[in-house]
Amino acid sequence: ARKIIIDTDPGQDDAVAILLALASPEEIEVLGITAVAGNVPLALTQKNTRIICELANRTDIPVFAGCDAPLKRPLVTAEHVHGKTGLDGPTLPDPTMPLQDAHAVDFIIETLRAHPAGTVTLCPLGPLTNIATALEKAPDIAPRIAEIVLMGGAYFEVGNITPAAEFNIYVDPEAADIVFRSGAPITVMPLDVTHKALVTKPRNDAFRALGTPVGEAVALMTDFFERFDKEKYGSAGAPLHDPCVTAYLIRSDLFTGRHINVEIETTSELTLGMTVADWWGVTDRPANATFMGDLDADGFFALLTERLARL
Ligand code: BDR
Ligand code: CA
Repeated sequence: ARKIIIDTDPGQDDAVAILLALASPEEIEVLGITAVAGNVPLALTQKNTRIICELANRTDIPVFAGCDAPLKRPLVTAEHVHGKTGLDGPTLPDPTMPLQDAHAVDFIIETLRAHPAGTVTLCPLGPLTNIATALEKAPDIAPRIAEIVLMGGAYFEVGNITPAAEFNIYVDPEAADIVFRSGAPITVMPLDVTHKALVTKPRNDAFRALGTPVGEAVALMTDFFERFDKEKYGSAGAPLHDPCVTAYLIRSDLFTGRHINVEIETTSELTLGMTVADWWGVTDRPANATFMGDLDADGFFALLTERLARL
């Protein structure tokens, strides 16, 4: 199994991504989960992370709180998408499992140093503040990272928080810039892919039909989360952005993309946080990321439903 650290800001789609990872121990070993401020403030994202671990009966997973604000900017949140708690939809009990004492950034650094180089994968599902802070604090970790598989950015689909930018990159563009320049192998799940992972009515029914607390919670979370994209984009259901990351670790064959140069806009007012992806290779800037462009949506939902049934 691939050893991973999930860095997250739950978020209903983050929650589903975590559940998918925890349901797949043959392919994925979750070493720990680090929370970051993003969809909602840190106090809620770290709490929501523990709520999800408890829903999956995995109180053994160490959960760490990380950065409570972007590197250089005030935090922008997304309650308009995820609700006041970040996890609106189901009614889930407050967590009783502890939050670890260590800071998320130190956990990331120490874990990468403690394992053989090239054996720990980072899975960021929110703004890249924790990952960038770790890279700045401990530059020796960059070559030790097996891969960074992240949800963020957009190319053809452009933006969801501004006309030009996707939320995770927009919230902390300086952090994203550090990550994309780190030299670590990067795989990106942009909106181009995640807007194809739509929870249509039959897919939502399939979650509910599992007849388990997890299936019911996922159905209620995606019910809640879909209203924003339906109203805004007229889309057929909630886009499961973050689960694309954990699905990729299990079934990379469901995704196709290109190894290209991706740079982050950090100065422009209009296009702040844009992922400038050289999809057509019109520059000679070196490739630094595999930018996904397409996904087998039916295969993705079959995998997700089959795995959630195991929890
Ligand atoms: C990303 O932003 C958040 O709202 C979601 O959890 C996802 O990580 C999509 O732009
Ligand atoms: Ca997220």
